[in-house]
Amino acid sequence: MTDPTDLHRRFSSDFVWGVATSAFQIEGAAREDGKGESIWDRFCRVPGAIADASNGDVACDHYHRLQEDLDLIASLGVDAYRFSVSWPRVQPAGQGAWNPLGLGFYERLVDGLLARGVKPYLTLDHWDLPQALQDHGGWARRDTVHRFVDYALGVHARLGDRLAAITTHNEPWVISTAGHENGVFAPGLKSRATAAQVSHHLLLSHGLALQALRAAGCRTPLGIVLNLAPIHAATASEADRASARLDDGRLVRWYMDPLFNGRYPADVLEFLGTDAPRIEAGDMASIATPMDFLGVNYYSRHVASADGSWRAGGSGLALTDMGWEVYPSGLTELLLRLHRDWPVPPLYVKENGAAFRDELVNGQVHDRERVAYLAAHIAAVADALAQGVPMAGYMVWSLLDNFEWASGYAKHFGIVHVDYATQRRTLKDSGCWYRDFLQRQRQQRDAPAPRAAGV
Ligand code: FCB
Repeated sequence: MTDPTDLHRRFSSDFVWGVATSAFQIEGAAREDGKGESIWDRFCRVPGAIADASNGDVACDHYHRLQEDLDLIASLGVDAYRFSVSWPRVQPAGQGAWNPLGLGFYERLVDGLLARGVKPYLTLDHWDLPQALQDHGGWARRDTVHRFVDYALGVHARLGDRLAAITTHNEPWVISTAGHENGVFAPGLKSRATAAQVSHHLLLSHGLALQALRAAGCRTPLGIVLNLAPIHAATASEADRASARLDDGRLVRWYMDPLFNGRYPADVLEFLGTDAPRIEAGDMASIATPMDFLGVNYYSRHVASADGSWRAGGSGLALTDMGWEVYPSGLTELLLRLHRDWPVPPLYVKENGAAFRDELVNGQVHDRERVAYLAAHIAAVADALAQGVPMAGYMVWSLLDNFEWASGYAKHFGIVHVDYATQRRTLKDSGCWYRDFLQRQRQQRDAPAPRAAGV
């Protein structure tokens, strides 16, 4: 058990600390300055799709509060800020004409970060595909792969010289499975075959974008961000263990195997049968194009039971407001496994955090549970580092309370509280804790003899 006041000593001075957001969840300005419609703008209009019937039209109004939010980011003392570009804001139809006002916004964002000494970590695709591309078949259509490569090249041409990292996709599993198989996220389709094809196109577009960017002279580190988790069997029964193996295949190996070994896992291909994706010659080699980093988003473990009877909470572990178990050791377990089973490049935790029911009282939010969650998960990263995993950084999800997709505005992940009526931002206790933690980091960094990683 780590003493939280000493936690910072367990990381080397070049470890990157950050906070993360995504465009659709915070920007608002949904129809301003030439922005095109995204599949999430459209999906929010489907009756019943969003728990509180809300949308991203205003969100945190970040588009109009950029300077204030940049100051807020800088005040935390983070090394890095992870954000995403809204594809339809910069290229409204997803192909063809670029929107100078949209590009100008991200240029001000990147320059504003650099002016404040914060490294820009850019994600190209955090789910808000241009609706115009969806109208032509979206990620299920192979042509979208090439549209994405053009988009990546266009963003890079404008901003690439100032970025610290470029991520192609955020959580392709979510886009594929939640968006095209379960239908609970945009674009709301329900077809296992379509979802499988989508996952293949996402991976292919990632690999081809890496190749095109490097051919265009890009020297910025390139990678992808996956949502991964250890999958535990609910009981020791053979049926539950088989179910855990399959879930692991579909969530973890379906992405890790092609990216690092150039093939899909045989057991999942067999499970999918005729729903397996159509793969063209050369695709698998393109997908396995070497990456400079791998990003991992971790919130909790998953538990598999063959009859679907397992319920979070039954194990007695604390739950977040999403109903997710607080399970920090799962992060160490996951990172060790990635390092053991695949030839991974430097790893980042690109998202980690928790929703709790916060209360703003007299200008303060005493979110003790979130402080404990973050401290425990940062300690879990330190445990992985101490056991030889090449960890490069950690980012809190999220900077701000924001639009939590199908949950709308009811779930709060921010270390900064947002009053949506006034757009007033208030640093929660967790934000103060992270800021103070980072300050101790910096003091150690500036000290004459910094201690080595894993100490
Ligand atoms: C991740 C998403 C992120 C946020 C968190 C809670 O799956 O990448 O946008 O919604 O979950």
